[in-house]
Amino acid sequence: MKIGIYGGTFDPVHNEHVNIANIAIEKLGLDKLIILPAGEPPHKDVAVLTDAKRRLKMCELAFNNPKIEISSFEIDKKGKSYTIDTLEHFAKDDDELFCVIGGDSLAEIYAWKQADDIFEIATVVVVGRDEYSNNDWLNKYLDKILKLDYQTKELSSTEVRITCEFGVDISNLVPVAVNDYIKKHELYQSHRKLTKKVQKMITEKKYIHSMNTTICGMTMARSANVDKESAFIACALHDCAKSLEDYSEYKKKLKKENMLIPEPVVHAFVGSYLIKKEFNIQDKNIRNAVKYHTTARPNMSQLEKLVYVADCIEIGRDYEGIEEVRKTSKNDFEKTFSLCLNSTFSVLVDKTMCPLTLDAIDFYGR
Ligand SMILES: [Fe+2]
Ligand SMILES: [Fe+2]
Repeated sequence: MKIGIYGGTFDPVHNEHVNIANIAIEKLGLDKLIILPAGEPPHKDVAVLTDAKRRLKMCELAFNNPKIEISSFEIDKKGKSYTIDTLEHFAKDDDELFCVIGGDSLAEIYAWKQADDIFEIATVVVVGRDEYSNNDWLNKYLDKILKLDYQTKELSSTEVRITCEFGVDISNLVPVAVNDYIKKHELYQSHRKLTKKVQKMITEKKYIHSMNTTICGMTMARSANVDKESAFIACALHDCAKSLEDYSEYKKKLKKENMLIPEPVVHAFVGSYLIKKEFNIQDKNIRNAVKYHTTARPNMSQLEKLVYVADCIEIGRDYEGIEEVRKTSKNDFEKTFSLCLNSTFSVLVDKTMCPLTLDAIDFYGR
């Protein structure tokens, strides 16, 4: 029999997982595809994962293809889940095994437990990303790698979770039954109090922009080396002063900054005072990430850079060259920051520029 193995955290399972599963079955001619929600994945922070039983239940609700089987093998197992252990468990003498993974995982596979053995017992099926890293280690296994002929859509569990956190409809992102389950059990609502408050402070358009910035920031948080909680708060609040009609209350504070603050930048500075007052955010790093999200400045913290970049390239933004910058953001955060800084500079070069932006360009180079 031809057996496919498709693991992941599935937190939550979404439409693209369902598409990939169905297409893998069809294109590879699988007799069976086993879906394996991870128990304790080696590479992710367990604390932020939704309870395993719930992730399993959502998988059971999501797929309705008779060739698909949902397995709790990795969840029931004590300790960390490694792909090789799972493959060995399901390997039977006369079966042909296919291990379905994402293109971004392929680049890291050399670091997985007994990586060589994975290729011994299974054909690795790669989904998504047109280009994957052809490093020397991987070259020897090229004949054991199959690229699934399917153009994946940009959808991630991160996007689903953040969309929920912002109270925005996810019915076009997940299967109906999964949506119902998420609603019933009030999953992904841990920041809902904060987002509800932001929603009241800004226009609908700015609220969606804040959500998209948060999705973008949370997607890059790991590669930027930023903790997810700070990333969420800073991104979600970065424009909370944007719809304020009257800044006069903050006149004194702005004056104290003792520099030219052009009109489009004021909301960022005011935002850093406002989040202390309205949300009791004392964390200097978060406040600075809000404060410098428009101008940048020299020697920025990783969180400051993250909000700056996320605000620049979130999905609602559109300017020349942005696709290239988004592509870069998938594997090189620092370079993405530098591209964003330079594009801000070229847009502002004939306009009134906050001196901080010039200093940042001097500091980071063009
Ligand atoms: Fe802004
Ligand atoms: Fe913004």
